[in-house]
Amino acid sequence: MKQENLTALLAEMTLDEKIAQCLQLSPFLFKGAKKNAELTGPVLQEMKLTDAHTENAGSVLGSSSAEDMLGIQEAYLKTNRLGIPLIFMADVIHGYKTVFPIPLALGCSFDRETVRTMAEVAALEATADGHHVTFSPMLDLVRDPRWGRVMESTGEDPFLNSELGKAMVAGYQGDASKLHENKANLAACVKHFAAYGAAEAGLEYNTVNMSTRELYQNYLPAYEAAIHAGAKLVMTAFNVVDGVPATMNKWLNRDVLRQEMNFDGVLISDWGAVAEVINHGTARNPAEAAQFSMEAGVDMEMMTTCYIHELKGLIEANKLSESLVDEAVLRILQLKNDLGLFEDPYRGLKGKSRQTDILTPENRQKSREAGLESAVLLENKQQILPLAETTKIALIGPLATSNDILGGWNVYGDEKDGVNVETGLQEVFSELITVSTDYTAFTEEDKSTIAKAIQASEVVVLSLGEKNEWGGEAGSLATIRLPEAQYDLAKYVQSFGKPVVITLFNGRPLEVKELAEASDALLELWFPGTEAGRVTADLLVGKSNPSGKLSMSFPQTTGQIPVYYNHLRTGRPQTEANKGERYVSHYLDIPNEPYYPFGYGKSYSEFEWKTAELPKQIQLGESLEVKVTLKNKSQIAGKEVIQIYVQDVTATISRPVKELKEFEKVALQPGEEKTVTFELTTEAFSFYNHQLEKVQEPGVHRIFVGTSSENVDTFEVEVGEV
Ligand code: GLC
Repeated sequence: MKQENLTALLAEMTLDEKIAQCLQLSPFLFKGAKKNAELTGPVLQEMKLTDAHTENAGSVLGSSSAEDMLGIQEAYLKTNRLGIPLIFMADVIHGYKTVFPIPLALGCSFDRETVRTMAEVAALEATADGHHVTFSPMLDLVRDPRWGRVMESTGEDPFLNSELGKAMVAGYQGDASKLHENKANLAACVKHFAAYGAAEAGLEYNTVNMSTRELYQNYLPAYEAAIHAGAKLVMTAFNVVDGVPATMNKWLNRDVLRQEMNFDGVLISDWGAVAEVINHGTARNPAEAAQFSMEAGVDMEMMTTCYIHELKGLIEANKLSESLVDEAVLRILQLKNDLGLFEDPYRGLKGKSRQTDILTPENRQKSREAGLESAVLLENKQQILPLAETTKIALIGPLATSNDILGGWNVYGDEKDGVNVETGLQEVFSELITVSTDYTAFTEEDKSTIAKAIQASEVVVLSLGEKNEWGGEAGSLATIRLPEAQYDLAKYVQSFGKPVVITLFNGRPLEVKELAEASDALLELWFPGTEAGRVTADLLVGKSNPSGKLSMSFPQTTGQIPVYYNHLRTGRPQTEANKGERYVSHYLDIPNEPYYPFGYGKSYSEFEWKTAELPKQIQLGESLEVKVTLKNKSQIAGKEVIQIYVQDVTATISRPVKELKEFEKVALQPGEEKTVTFELTTEAFSFYNHQLEKVQEPGVHRIFVGTSSENVDTFEVEVGEV
């Protein structure tokens, strides 16, 4: 539909119809939903919704199947006066029915193409089931693994999150200008705006408290990158930003999001977040909640009814301008039009199934490859890995046969389609004895069974980890430890003196010191998704060589949180030279460094790199070329991630010890070498000053080139006239 026709359509709409477009509801509240029979349940009375409301509501979230969505849309269009179609949105966060590794794992892939592919396959499958929009990418920067939703982020670094957020948007949307014809693409929704990952103490839904400069420096860049990559929607965060709930924060949403970031798409609240501003104590009642949220530019209210019940009265009482509602509705109509819903509300699915696009061998293979790119080899003492296929294996632990391996934001994937560790290993190792134990208990009976299995085997594969419900939304932990039974199990298994390989399945960095000490190899697999067992087997047997790098630091202990690599120096930094002195920044009981640092991950290969000589000085505004030659010194093909970090040594703002500014994953055959050239532009040398201006200042800058945030060569370059 042409733009002028959208404006004409808006003009035809009654105020009630316009306000209803700003409402998003769960599918069971609509006619035509398969579960229509439960429609008149308490939810309807609590929400006081009428037929007029549900016959004009703008959107559905979380529908479960093509049949459901087609049924709802068909029934809806029979009663919607102007024939405005519904738009269907859902949480398709790391795959749809073919489930991919969790986003924190994908962050560890350090590979844009892996992440783009995940999004592309997710869109292919979700659109085959009738979805139009996904509530992804989640680009909340995270530094606190007590927060369960770290699993949904790509980690602690603004640049990595920005690059992978752009890749997700590209994968979901394809060419954003052709969403109306590309029926296998989804519209992407960036969330949660803003800084939800900084919830104090990692406590879910808790207060966020930071300087506005810190917000700009570290927390906003990834959202902005995804918006500039063309994301069609943004979702508000539950938390306050500088004391005002994001959902009614006019400065955040109108000044920063719409003006500074130039976002003109749909801004949708998170679930219930409009009504929850009352709980925050910044609105006295639903009418004020509706007024303040609409004034702050929130176009659509998810699953609460402040807008539908209050906006008309506010307008009639001249407390709110109808023009604000018109703006919101026009953006919603524009989004529906971008997806071609006016021409085809079913996006090609009416009478034509695309179920054959779902859970195909190709999609499974792509999920498997993503798992292989995302796993991180944390320890491999005496190169115990990879194992020969003839190795006699004792597979022990709670994750040996658990099917709870799909990941915390798996909504549509089915565990029965998943490949668990035992199944994966059985396809490779000819001699495998499995002893499945409980996640939280380790009994005397277990001991005797385990003893027999180990005595009959050569190597132990100990599969440990979390249940998905221990993380994800509303999944905060005060202590980032596995159940003590799992640490006890590791020590017991070690006592037999045979090689032990621990495979770890989890959604957050954990306290792993005891596991590293009790094993010969420690492989971090996160939650790899549908192909988990095959990913595990491929890596253990060397069909694939681990190449992941940590996108989030592993603390020594919970008490060290937050610990992240791009920290400031302080006035008394601990250094190699002053280690042991008292009056420097240090703990009495643990080292300052994380147990495993950002950017760290081992390989079965051995790499070396050389950096071409850098100029001693560049001018302000000039780019710096960094040329790195990487060589595979081993006989095993593998991939290494070259990482480039920058430090502004002296500036008007204290700057971090280093910040990631470029990375590239390079595949090398045995003996092969490749040269990668990076260009560090002004952007890489700039930061936000106290006036919130993005500036580049002259002075000495350090350039770090390496394969982890801790394993780097250091160079100094003078920028500009000193
Ligand atoms: C949830 C989450 C959000 C999700 C939305 C819809 O509460 O915070 O990330 O997209 O509701 O399910």
